[in-house]
Amino acid sequence: MKKVEAIIRAEAFLSLREALCLRGFSGLTVSEAAGCGKQKGKQGIFRGNKFELQLVPRVKVEMIIDDGQVEDIIDLIVEHCSTDTVGDGKIFIYPVEDVIRIRTGERGKKAVL
Ligand SMILES: Nc1ncnc2c1ncn2[C@@H]1O[C@H](COP(=O)(O)OP(=O)(O)OP(=O)(O)O)[C@@H](O)[C@H]1O
Ligand SMILES: [Mg+2]
Repeated sequence: MKKVEAIIRAEAFLSLREALCLRGFSGLTVSEAAGCGKQKGKQGIFRGNKFELQLVPRVKVEMIIDDGQVEDIIDLIVEHCSTDTVGDGKIFIYPVEDVIRIRTGERGKKAVL
């Protein structure tokens, strides 16, 4: 299993969510995030604040999925979250050791779906 963590623009989330649902992915965690990338939070907007580094608001989407679904999810995220401009975000993939559904005690793959 893998964890897919995507930092995306908030306005891209709804269409991504819809696409994920249509493909049968139901479990996910979303949180508000703030951060910066290569541009150090500068969005090309002059805010009158010397050289202060800004944090740009983003949405963080986390999903635990089967190894075989990773490339599909990456394609889906790129398709729905790309505007071809700086700040579109990033996807991080991590290995996952185990998952436990608390209600049933199911573990691993059975607990993910
Ligand atoms: N190396 C990183 N580690 C953790 N979070 C990151 C990293 N790079 C980007 N992020 C997160 O992703 C958000 C969007 O990053 P962004 O898309 O601007 O990346 P970038 O490397 O600057 O690429 P681009 O040049 O396309 O803008 C950031 O605001 C931050 O929250
Ligand atoms: Mg950037």
